[in-house]
Amino acid sequence: MEFIKVTNYQDMSDKACAIMIEKINNLKNPVLGLATGSTPEGLYQKIIEQYKQGKVSFKDVTTFNLDEYVGLSREDVNSYYRYMQEKLFNHVDINLERVHLPNGTASDLAEECRMYDKQIEQAGRVDLQILGMGINGHIGFNEPGTPFNSRTHVVDLAASTLEANARFFPSLADVPTQAVTMGIATIMESKEILLLVSGEQKAEAIARLAEGEISEDFPASILRNHPNVTVVVDEGAMVKL
Ligand code: GLP
Repeated sequence: MEFIKVTNYQDMSDKACAIMIEKINNLKNPVLGLATGSTPEGLYQKIIEQYKQGKVSFKDVTTFNLDEYVGLSREDVNSYYRYMQEKLFNHVDINLERVHLPNGTASDLAEECRMYDKQIEQAGRVDLQILGMGINGHIGFNEPGTPFNSRTHVVDLAASTLEANARFFPSLADVPTQAVTMGIATIMESKEILLLVSGEQKAEAIARLAEGEISEDFPASILRNHPNVTVVVDEGAMVKL
């Protein structure tokens, strides 16, 4: 696991953008794993700027997002599908047929999960997976206690995650209590992983990632076993190291 230390959120986003563009430009049919949340928003803004300047094209890019809330349709303002459209897809030349997010309104969610893993496999696996990290170490929506060998599955969200994500909803009661997430084993099969971490609220989590033991109690810790992980971390998130 390689740590790249940067000053602030902007620098983290710039660095991530440079890594992502290099990956897209060096592969014939790049498969990207994408994340939502506040962390990658700056990265998506930067990449749109680069796209507008002709530095990158999404024409041949396939994407798989990490997760989606159960019960929210694609059109719902709080769905991750909508988030991705607004923050990235609507602004670049991506072919929407190559865009994949779990369908949180599928009538058979277990089948949806199986299909999602199959689609990732058929696409040749993820070349570069962008990850954020929850304050409790969750990756995607894999909460503490999730088996390391898990595939894409339905999860009950932890209370701390519901509280953290309530800021996007009218009230805490409106946050869906379940989500579909790529499993930890699915994430670990990505060829390369880029973990972005910014801000003091993540300082405890970064300290645990860097210095704690590898345990299912702290999902992100498994990343230490992956051969190709880069962590771009800013000064705020390093205060406890
Ligand atoms: C969310 C998402 C994760 C994200 C994490 C951190 O709940 N499901 O994919 O990485 O929590 O979010 P943020 O970047 O807003 O801190």
